[in-house]
Amino acid sequence: MSQHDLVIVANRLPVDSRTLPDGATEWVTSPGGLVTAMESVMKGVDSGAWVGWAGSPGEAPDPFEADGMHLYPVRLEAEDVEKYYEGFSNGTLWPLYHDVIVDPEFHRTWWDSYVAVNRRFAKAAAEVASPGGTIWVHDYQLQLVPEMIRSERPDVRIGFFNHIPFPPLELFSQLPKRNQVLRGLLGADLVGFQRESDALNFTAAARKLLGYQVDQHTVTVPGIGASEPRQVLAKCFPISIDAGAITALTEDPELRERAAQLRRDLGDPKRIVLGVDRLDYTKGIRHRLKAWGELLNDDLIDPSETVLVQVATPSRERVDAYRQLRDEVELTVGRINGDFAPIGRPAISYLHRSFDRRDMTALYMAADVALVTSLRDGMNLVAKEYVASRPDLRGVLVLSEFTGAADELRAAILVNPHDIDDLKSSVLRALTMSEEEQEEAMRSLRRQVLDHDVQTWAKLFLEDLEEIGRTAKPGR
Ligand code: G6P
Repeated sequence: MSQHDLVIVANRLPVDSRTLPDGATEWVTSPGGLVTAMESVMKGVDSGAWVGWAGSPGEAPDPFEADGMHLYPVRLEAEDVEKYYEGFSNGTLWPLYHDVIVDPEFHRTWWDSYVAVNRRFAKAAAEVASPGGTIWVHDYQLQLVPEMIRSERPDVRIGFFNHIPFPPLELFSQLPKRNQVLRGLLGADLVGFQRESDALNFTAAARKLLGYQVDQHTVTVPGIGASEPRQVLAKCFPISIDAGAITALTEDPELRERAAQLRRDLGDPKRIVLGVDRLDYTKGIRHRLKAWGELLNDDLIDPSETVLVQVATPSRERVDAYRQLRDEVELTVGRINGDFAPIGRPAISYLHRSFDRRDMTALYMAADVALVTSLRDGMNLVAKEYVASRPDLRGVLVLSEFTGAADELRAAILVNPHDIDDLKSSVLRALTMSEEEQEEAMRSLRRQVLDHDVQTWAKLFLEDLEEIGRTAKPGR
């Protein structure tokens, strides 16, 4: 097996499989943010690898190459998918880390599976990293991996980035096996978070629950036996998007035409309001629909002039809370359309599917208002993508205060999505903003997003990790 200077470890590989008409499998790069970020980093290293799950249970394909990356698929059996992925990752950790919007469930067999699968990922990564190389582990599904890698490969530099919020101590303390999770993360040299408050929550947990010494952003992990104590840096690195690539897309005449066609397809409304989300209970879709229904009911929005386009990308469909959410959202959309839609066009155009990057950009270009109403969100890249799609300086972003993006995008209309009246008045304000006001806000938002793109994000993280490696004592 070859050895690699930089190894990315994430639950999913950066490719999706597609079955060709002759039955053969083709791998296509998936359009996610992490993939884009890592592609730019991989270009700078001689030899990069990615360890992850190919997305379906059972036999994993052999290692293969795609877009210049070496991919190492990790096998997940149907039982692992049920207990590690749907269970502990998305039934326990996801709701707990997102402020308990739905009740987290916990089963000891889910934990056992989480440990076993994390070990499989760690082993695969430890096998392919070159001596003194760098391993970058991603997200809540793999929190035990840093420590597991360290015990096998003390020579490598280990970074971890948490893409979702890290909860306050009062919530994190509810997690059974919380100390094991903390120790797992503290196996890394650098633990990155989206927001400063996430990093502080993490260091507070290390101090209070493990009794470790914390000095600002540094946690000291005591040595075991003869080994020296080790320092772990916990810092925030707000993730971003490939803003340049999106802005470039908006100059494509074909996409401009597609955006104009979208408007015509919707019956040429005066205003298009857009929501784009994975169909997830953290996104506040219920709250958004409630506000929209009331605005129509109160005659504050005229459905023959203004339409809400809601893209809801299918997600985790075998997890109960997601199934219930889908039923509820679709019932509500049906009711609102039944009550208010003019003949021949919707009051809400609901799209339960995913769109590729080009179609998504055309939607952003067509939208007069983008509505992000998450109840809790690590970052929210939709907000940044919308901004990157508007070099024309038109359009208004309504953004939940409970997203990581709200720390940076201060020129958006910030909203508390729990407060339906606030949501309603924010939508109305967005719909009545003058062109000058739109331009001023969008100019400031664009400065932020273009200056802090995903390439910068990855570079800053890896530079810090490299620096730690350089200053650490031999035998880290
Ligand atoms: C969030 C998580 C990612 C995850 C993605 C899609 O963005 O932070 O780790 O990959 O959702 O969810 P899925 O369960 O389909 O991988």
